[in-house]
Amino acid sequence: MARVLVGVTGGIAAYKACELVRLLVRAGHEVIPLVTPGAERFVRAETFNALARRNPETSLYPHLERVDLYVISPLTANTLAKLAHGLADNLVTEAALAHDGPLLVAPATNTRMWRHPATQANLELIVARGVKVVGPSEGDLAEGGQGLGRMAEPEEIFARCQALLGPSNSLLQGRRVVVTAGATREPIDAVRFVGNRSSGRMGVALAEEARRRGAEVTLIGSNLAVAPPGGVPVVHASTAADLRRETLALGDADVVVMAAAVGDYRPSEPRGDKRPKDGEVWRIDLQPNDDVLSALGRQSANGRILVGFAAETGEDGLARARTKRTGKNADLVVYNDVARKDIGFESPDNEVVLISEAGERKVEKAPKARIAAEIFDEVERLMETDGGRASG
Ligand SMILES: Cc1cc2nc3c(=O)[nH]c(=O)nc-3n(C[C@H](O)[C@H](O)[C@H](O)COP(=O)(O)O)c2cc1C
Repeated sequence: MARVLVGVTGGIAAYKACELVRLLVRAGHEVIPLVTPGAERFVRAETFNALARRNPETSLYPHLERVDLYVISPLTANTLAKLAHGLADNLVTEAALAHDGPLLVAPATNTRMWRHPATQANLELIVARGVKVVGPSEGDLAEGGQGLGRMAEPEEIFARCQALLGPSNSLLQGRRVVVTAGATREPIDAVRFVGNRSSGRMGVALAEEARRRGAEVTLIGSNLAVAPPGGVPVVHASTAADLRRETLALGDADVVVMAAAVGDYRPSEPRGDKRPKDGEVWRIDLQPNDDVLSALGRQSANGRILVGFAAETGEDGLARARTKRTGKNADLVVYNDVARKDIGFESPDNEVVLISEAGERKVEKAPKARIAAEIFDEVERLMETDGGRASG
């Protein structure tokens, strides 16, 4: 996960920067949008902040944040000229002067503006200074007609961003990672079940992050309410027993992350048919399910890193999460308070405490993609401190 500044300047293509921000956020990056007054005529800064899940008051000096990459998309002929000559009269140009890392620009102008010798000279100046340029391409222009000057598509700009951020030097590169996600369902009869509200978002974000870091990921999905990440094989496991069987079968992975909300209880005597509706009270006995995390913790693991989630409520939740880690022999437990409406189950955000033998670290409320990155940062720290325990 990286920190990326996205500068937006005043062309019609500003709307395409929304998609770029979305792609960067989805990939787990922290995005800081900067918008010129010219761009605000097309898309409001609030839109970019909302897409970046960023509180506009986060920093008084967003243009001075240290970032891994600065991308300006679209880049107008006007801002190109300012970059070439070192002007700093708005957030986008101030940030460009303050930034000493990679800068990627995606110009968008009308064909005559693009071909103008002043624009071309400015372009040469910034390229000579190491600025990377993506596009423009030939195609339909906003003012009508065809020509050179159309901004590169967001997917292409995103791919260049990823390339500039460098290949993953993650310890997870080539490692086998298993992530469980979603909510198990325990049948009551042929159509009814006992379940829970977990959507699978957190687990899907974790699978996506592990894949981004170069791991060979398998996602064990229980009734996912969200789409699994592309390119990640999914093993479907509906009940707690299914999930237990599938997870134990893959328990020799280098990292196992148990993000699924596995039912603790199941109906003792599920009916094979659908119970017809009548006026009677229906009492259902629930019996405890075998604990999957404990079973994994007991497996001989040859250096595997085991991560559990503690979805708790109430004041004692954190204490229970600590006990869970030691009691179940997990390397890391991710505690989150599922009583809160703004995080956890069914929410795009989470706020967690990472509990390991080395100590505890709170991760403030953030999109689940970012939480996933923090969790794998911690996993990598554990792999490192264990001298590459997971090298088996
Ligand atoms: C409807 C409209 C569309 C524009 N599209 C572009 C464009 O695609 N590229 C460009 O360089 N300038 C474009 N301009 C001109 C810029 O908005 C203008 O140069 C402005 O000063 C740019 O400010 P900024 O670079 O600080 O955002 C457009 C202007 C208007 C009114």
